[in-house]
Amino acid sequence: MSEIASGTAGFLFGGDYNPEQWPREVWTEDMELMRRAGVNTTTIGVFSWAVLEPREGEFDAAWLDEVIATLDEAGISFFLATPTASPPPWFTRVYPDAMPVRPDGTRVVHGSRDTYAISAPAYRAACRRVARFLAERYGQHPRLRGWHVHNEYGTIDHGPHAAAAFRRWLQAKYGDLSTLNDAWYTAFWSQHYSDWEDILPPRQTQYLANPAQVVDFKRFCSDEMLAAYDEQVAEIRAAGSTAQVTTNFMLPTWNHLDQWDWAEHQDVVSIDHYLDTSGPDGEAHVAYASDLTRSWAGGAWLLMEQNATGIRETDRTFVKDSDRMIRNSLGYIARGSQSSLFFQWRAGAAGAESWHGALVPHTGPQSRSFDAVVRLGAMLAQIAEVAELPAEGPLIEAQIGIVWDANGWWSLDTPHLPNEELSYAAEVRATHRSLWRAGIACDFVRPRADATGYRILAVPSMFALDDATVSWLTAYVEAGGHLVVGHFTGVADENQRVVLGGYPGRLRDLLGVRVEEIRPLAAGRTHTLTDGAEIEQWTERMHLETADEVAAYADGDLAGLPAIARRRVGGGTATYLSARLVQKSRDAFWTTLCQAHGVTPTLPDAVGTGLEVVRRRAARGDYLFCLHHGNEAVRIAGTGEDLLTGRTTDRGLLLTPGEVAVIRERPGATWHVTAV
Ligand code: GAL
Repeated sequence: MSEIASGTAGFLFGGDYNPEQWPREVWTEDMELMRRAGVNTTTIGVFSWAVLEPREGEFDAAWLDEVIATLDEAGISFFLATPTASPPPWFTRVYPDAMPVRPDGTRVVHGSRDTYAISAPAYRAACRRVARFLAERYGQHPRLRGWHVHNEYGTIDHGPHAAAAFRRWLQAKYGDLSTLNDAWYTAFWSQHYSDWEDILPPRQTQYLANPAQVVDFKRFCSDEMLAAYDEQVAEIRAAGSTAQVTTNFMLPTWNHLDQWDWAEHQDVVSIDHYLDTSGPDGEAHVAYASDLTRSWAGGAWLLMEQNATGIRETDRTFVKDSDRMIRNSLGYIARGSQSSLFFQWRAGAAGAESWHGALVPHTGPQSRSFDAVVRLGAMLAQIAEVAELPAEGPLIEAQIGIVWDANGWWSLDTPHLPNEELSYAAEVRATHRSLWRAGIACDFVRPRADATGYRILAVPSMFALDDATVSWLTAYVEAGGHLVVGHFTGVADENQRVVLGGYPGRLRDLLGVRVEEIRPLAAGRTHTLTDGAEIEQWTERMHLETADEVAAYADGDLAGLPAIARRRVGGGTATYLSARLVQKSRDAFWTTLCQAHGVTPTLPDAVGTGLEVVRRRAARGDYLFCLHHGNEAVRIAGTGEDLLTGRTTDRGLLLTPGEVAVIRERPGATWHVTAV
C-alpha cells in the first residue's frame, strides 16, 4: 500500500484547482477559504498544457512555480497532473495526424479537450517531454502528494496510427494471419485477410462489424493507453521522482479500460465518480463505484472527483443538497476511499463547464453549499483515525464476490446479439444493488483470482469465457463454493465463437443444464416463475441434465419448464438463472440465497429503514459508518462512540433523515436499530 493511502495523514480533502484561469486576487481568497474549510490537497495542472508549453518545446512554468509557492505557503499539498489529456491548439497545427479519427472517418480537432490519437508517435513524444519537464522541475517538491498522470484515459482513435499499432498488437497476439483468420472467423462474409496491411480498426462499414475484431480492438485500446501511461511514469521515475503515481478512472456507462490490468501499474488506484441519477438509487451508485474501486485497488483507494453541488441527468443539472454531498462523501470513505476530492475547487465563471458544481459556488462562500464544505472538512478531521489502515486483512469483510471483467462488458457490446437490451453494466449493477439493499457487504473479483474466501460468487451475464475462466469457476464450486451464474453466460469462447450442442456450452457440465433456445421477451413484457419471481427481457428453453429445478416458468410459452437450476457438487453448488429477474425479484433471490448460506447483513435491523451501515476496519479497530438515506428517524444502539459528535451510543444515538454517524465500535459490540 502506498504512502498516500497509508492514512497516517488522515483523509485527503480538496479537489481540482485551476488558478491559471483566475486573476491573482482570487488566489489570495482561495487560500483563505481553503484554510477555512480544512482543505489539505489540490490537484493542479490537469488542463494546463497550452499555458505550460505555449509553443512546441518552449516551457513557461513561472505561473506554476507561483501556484505551488502559494499552496506551499498555505500548507496545502498537491497532486501534479501531467496535462496530456488536452493538447494545445498549436499541436493540431504542427501534428494534424495526431488528432483522433472517429469510426466514420471524421478527424476531430482541438477546441474542446481529450483530442489526441493515442498511437500517434508525435503525441506520445510530446507527452513524454511534458511529463519529464514537470518531473524534473517539481518531482522532489515536499508538498507533492503524487502524480496524476493524464485525465480519464479514454479517447478512441480509428485513424492510420491506430491501424498500424493495432496490427502490431495483433501480430504479437496471433503470430500469423492464419491464426487470426481462424480466431476472427473470417470465412464469414469474405473477410479472410491475406495481408496484415488490410486489417483496420472497426471503422464505419456497410453493415455489422466482425465481433471478434471489435472485442480485440477494445483490448488493444486498453493496452495501448496503458503503454502511453507507462511511458509517462517512466519519465517521472527517470527524473528521480519517487512520489506515488495514479491516473483517474472514470466509471461511466461505457468502458475503455481493463481496470484490473491498469491497477497493477499504479501506486494507488483512483476514480472520478458522478451520480447517474438524482433519485435514491444514486446512493447505491456510490456504493457500487466504491466497492469496484476498492476491489481493483485491493484495498484503500482515492476518490479524485465528485460534484459538490450538482447531479447531471441528460439535459439538466439537479441540485445535490448538502446533506447528500456529506453522505456521499462518507459513503466513499466507508468503502475504502482515503480521500474526499472534488471537481472542482471554484465554479468557473466561463467556459464549457461554468455550470458545473464546485466547492466554492458562483455565489461565493456565503452559501449553504460552502457551509457544508466547511462542515465536511471538520468531519474528516474528526474521523481522521479511521484513515489509518489495519496492519493486515481487508478493510471490509465480504463473503460475496461479484466477478467483474472488462471482456465481459466488451463482448456484450458486440452487435446483433439475441437481445441487445441485455447490458453487462446493468447486470453487474443490478446484482450489486440487490446486495446493497440487503445491507450485505461484497467485493468484486477478477476472473481467475483467488476466490476461495467467498462463500458465494456471482457471475453476471458473461457471454464469452475462455478456458482458464471455465476451469477457475469449476474449481471454485468443487472446493465447496456457491456459484450463481446469470443468463447468457459462457455461451461462447473468448472470440465470441458459440459452443455448439446446447447453451451455455462452456458451462454446461458445471451447471448441469442444456439450453435449446434463447427466447427474448418483447420490451416491457414480464412473466412469473413458480416461486413468485417476475422475469423480463430474456428466457431460455432449458433442460435439466445433472441439475435440479429451483423454479420453473409459471406462465408464457415456457410454462412448466425449468427457469432456475441448481447442481450440487460435493459441498458446493452451481446455480443457473436462465431468465432476467426484475430488480424486486432479484433482491428477494439474493436475500434468500444469503440466508441459506449464512451470509448476514452488516446490521440486520437496519435493512429496510433507509439506514446504510458499512463496517470499515482501521488500525485501531472497527468503525460503523451510518448513513441515513431514509425518511424516518432511527435510533442506533450498541457499545461505541460517535466520532462526529463525541457521544456514546450505548443508550442509543438518534439519526434523523439525512444524518450520518461514524461509530468507533467497542470489541464485541452488538447493535440494534429501531425506527423512532
Ligand atoms: C470529469 C473530468 C473533469 C470534469 C468533470 C465534470 O470527468 O475529469 O475534468 O470535466 O468530469 O463532471
